[in-house]
Amino acid sequence: MTPAPRPKNRTFADVLAVRLRRRDLLRGAAAGLATAACAPVIGNGPRGERVGDGFIPVASSRSDDLVVPAGYRAQVLLRWGDPLFPGAPDFDPRAQSAERQQQQFGYDNDFIGYLPLPRGSRSSSRGLLGVNHENARSALMWPGWDGKTVTAEMVAVEIAAHGFTVVEVRRRGREWTVVRESPYNRRITGATPTRLSGPAAGHPLLRTAGDPTGRTVLGTLNNCAGGVTPWGTFLTGEENIWLYFAGKVEELADPAVRALHQRYALGRPRYRWAAHQPRFDLRREPNEPNRFGWVVEIDPYDPRSTPVKHTALGRMAHEGATVILSRDGRPVVYMGDDARFEYLYKFVADRAYDPGDRAGALRLLESGTLYAARFEDDGTGRWLPLVFGREPLGPAQGFHSQAEVLVNTRGAADLVGATRMDRPEDVEPNPVTGKVYAVMTGNERRTAREVNRANPRAGVKFGHIIEILEEGGDHAATSFRWEMFILAGDPANPAHGADYQKRTDVHPFAMPDNIAFDDLGRMWVATDGVDETLGPNDGVWVVDTEGPARGRARQFLSGPVGAEICGPAFTPDYRTFFVAIQHPGLGERSTFERPDSRFPDYREDMPPRPSVLAIYRVDGAVA
Ligand code: FEO
Ligand code: CA
Ligand code: CA
Ligand code: CA
Repeated sequence: MTPAPRPKNRTFADVLAVRLRRRDLLRGAAAGLATAACAPVIGNGPRGERVGDGFIPVASSRSDDLVVPAGYRAQVLLRWGDPLFPGAPDFDPRAQSAERQQQQFGYDNDFIGYLPLPRGSRSSSRGLLGVNHENARSALMWPGWDGKTVTAEMVAVEIAAHGFTVVEVRRRGREWTVVRESPYNRRITGATPTRLSGPAAGHPLLRTAGDPTGRTVLGTLNNCAGGVTPWGTFLTGEENIWLYFAGKVEELADPAVRALHQRYALGRPRYRWAAHQPRFDLRREPNEPNRFGWVVEIDPYDPRSTPVKHTALGRMAHEGATVILSRDGRPVVYMGDDARFEYLYKFVADRAYDPGDRAGALRLLESGTLYAARFEDDGTGRWLPLVFGREPLGPAQGFHSQAEVLVNTRGAADLVGATRMDRPEDVEPNPVTGKVYAVMTGNERRTAREVNRANPRAGVKFGHIIEILEEGGDHAATSFRWEMFILAGDPANPAHGADYQKRTDVHPFAMPDNIAFDDLGRMWVATDGVDETLGPNDGVWVVDTEGPARGRARQFLSGPVGAEICGPAFTPDYRTFFVAIQHPGLGERSTFERPDSRFPDYREDMPPRPSVLAIYRVDGAVA
């Protein structure tokens, strides 16, 4: 297929794009002078201070580099294995242990949230980063791994590499450092005790031999995207929980349990943890999977706080959870269930947020109404409540309580007639306009008979972004209007059926996943999926949402080989852009010894390491 014609400045961008590799990648105080620092800064707009002001787009890339525009620096702030506490051991990939991993940054960083220090301030030079650790990648973590054998210690390390990190970061000048001595630093892993809240807490479906109360779960798993609440907590979504549980679902005795687990696609695990930890074996603990797939709230300002799994927000392959207040001050949480043909959801809390009552705020997500979205072809839509006792969610359909509705959220959404979507990833309101953007990462399995206007392409993997305007501009509304914002892919290739508001001056992207908004209302799109005609490396694109440039997409970053780009987040002053480089070097034949990438260290004795980067303008007028 013919590559798309690029915008006119492509050659220019090629010349000026800064390729950061090996010695050019900066880390902490050891940083030398980078190419970026020397590059001329020639903006195509007024010279500003924000990340994204006047940047010259980069070109798509297939090389094993991290590429950012000229005038920008990408600093490696945190890598898998970096010590997080005083006295924590340095990373040694050939001597990893669970004890070491628990004191170090985890694997596969995904969501990033920034909360200022002190709490309630707007500091952009001192804050807490909350970072998800979605997966362990055995082939890239373990020297000489045979593809199947795991020891008890390997399982313990992989569990410790999952979960969440809270870490204090400070900016001095333009450069960021990790504050290892901070009392806020914390690792939450796949074994950290967490508390279940809300209507399903304590229900028999959540009880196990290890926890007869059904209220305390060991750990959080597959933490994908997330959100930040107005009261200063992080939310983290437990996504692909089917990866962890061994045992054939069809061999389970209870038909209701079988049906539930089948609806959640259990029975095809990737991890082999059950060999050493019986709770991951469905035959031993058939209810253990019901204790995962929730949104978890973490209060980073209290390092002794217990993470809370909020059952009121439903159980699914939670991508993220983005919070905004309704007109009357109630938190509204937008969420996607990231699997093919699954649904879009929102939760509206019962009570309003009172900024003077933080203890009360920490309980706001315990009660409210969960809705699933139905999109009509005429551009309208409705939020359908998932409430026990409201038809059809009653005993005739197998539901006997709100707890059962929440544990089997997917089954409830099937019954109310929600619209089956093309893998919902981030769902996020644009804080400048109030419009909500729902990102579908793509679904090549949709057939021509299954298309609808909200999922309009059959057999296409490129994904799309839907724009939602809540009725009356109120996020608690139960009806909305919607339109297609972007059909991703290459608009110059008719086979893609791509559309960026009819524009041709775009840098095309594919498989949008996580998004963030800047204070100009521009959408920053991080991608998860590559296509030969478009790249092929994943990256970050900046998309205008309003005005004459609406729909214009320009590439800001191109990642290294095998990496998915995650977690885009800004400091409150929009002068630092944090981004997560997840699973660099991931590939079918990529191994610890012979990885497809050695990002970011590019040392022969070091495997690739998922990393968090701080990206900023080197000419930025930073205080
Ligand atoms: Fe973990 Fe939906 O990406
Ligand atoms: Ca991911
Ligand atoms: Ca994602
Ligand atoms: Ca994804």
